[in-house]
Amino acid sequence: MAVKIEKSLLRVLGGEVLAMPPVWLMRQAGRYLPEYRATRATAGGFLELCYSPDHAVEVTLQPIRRFGFDAAILFADILLLPQALGAKLWFETGEGPRLVPIVTRDDLERLNPVEAIHDTLAPIYETVRRLTAELPKETALIGFAGAPWTVATYMIAGRGTPDQGPARRMMYDDRALFADLIDLLTLATIEYLARQIEAGAEVVKLFDSWAGALSGSTFEEFALKPAQKIARALKSRFPHVKVIGFPRGVGGGYEQFARTGDFDALALDSSVPARWARDVLQPDVAVQGNLDPMLLVTGGAQLRHEVERLQEILGNGRWIFNLGHGITPEADPRHVEELLNIIKG
Ligand code: CP3
Repeated sequence: MAVKIEKSLLRVLGGEVLAMPPVWLMRQAGRYLPEYRATRATAGGFLELCYSPDHAVEVTLQPIRRFGFDAAILFADILLLPQALGAKLWFETGEGPRLVPIVTRDDLERLNPVEAIHDTLAPIYETVRRLTAELPKETALIGFAGAPWTVATYMIAGRGTPDQGPARRMMYDDRALFADLIDLLTLATIEYLARQIEAGAEVVKLFDSWAGALSGSTFEEFALKPAQKIARALKSRFPHVKVIGFPRGVGGGYEQFARTGDFDALALDSSVPARWARDVLQPDVAVQGNLDPMLLVTGGAQLRHEVERLQEILGNGRWIFNLGHGITPEADPRHVEELLNIIKG
């Protein structure tokens, strides 16, 4: 007899349309929560938080306890994988991530082989195992990784950049070096996510936050193809795993992602028109999104208006409620409460 799936997120990813969509928020564990700031202070720093299963489990559970979201996302960061590959990583307070940049073929060849990543990443797998045991039975667990292109933009520039200029420049200037880096990241991402799935992640999400900086044939070669390769490899090893793609900012490129059939859902950034998503994407794939995160800073009538508008347009198809990007540190937890009241009635 088939086991009935209870978790609403898994139901929608499995093709069902629900009267009330599952809800979770990108960056739901984060600085807008006082309890997160307290745990982070105890841990000492952001990376210490990520690599301590005690603390990482605690901050992953905080938004679940407070709001009862339908899914928890593993607390970690997309830059832990390049770190495990040997790219030195640190966070500058108030500024963001820094890495020793990959500029030459020698830099690439000095990185660790894919098999070596699991030593560094073992605490992350332990966090997933503990969450699997501790989460409420109705709450799905999402693992994640950065997509190769987005991770490469940080590795090549050594930091976040406004236009991903250094990575785009290498892509055109030294195609072979760039393509080898993308291939390495694609293989490493498959192994990293496979371990998360073995540890208990039921869903994995691939964050391609800077996919919108690709254009022409490079969108297909460096965003679409690696994402497909990762999704297919994981599904061939783990037929039941669900994969969410997030090619942020690709506009009409979302349609190409939907047509592949390789993703169970696509996370939409806030610029994607809901009616277009309903007509063009939802027939082929579940969609997730895409409220403007600013509305959780401001709250009020505009928040209600925009949430109800999304419900009206996307609510008759496969839909997971989320923001179009991560919740910001300025968001007010009371507005998150308000949001849940609007959706869950
Ligand atoms: O969503 C979640 O709650 C899970 C945890 C998560 C984090 N980062 C924690 C985090 C996830 C899924 C990410 C993904 C991530 N990390 C992305 C892709 C998603 C996106 O936002 O586009 C990117 C580009 C990164 C890299 C990164 N990590 C940057 C650029 C920064 C600094 C900017 C910032 O917001 O401070 C981080 C730090 C980071 N990752 C924080 C959190 C909670 C803030 C760290 C802190 O506590 O100071």
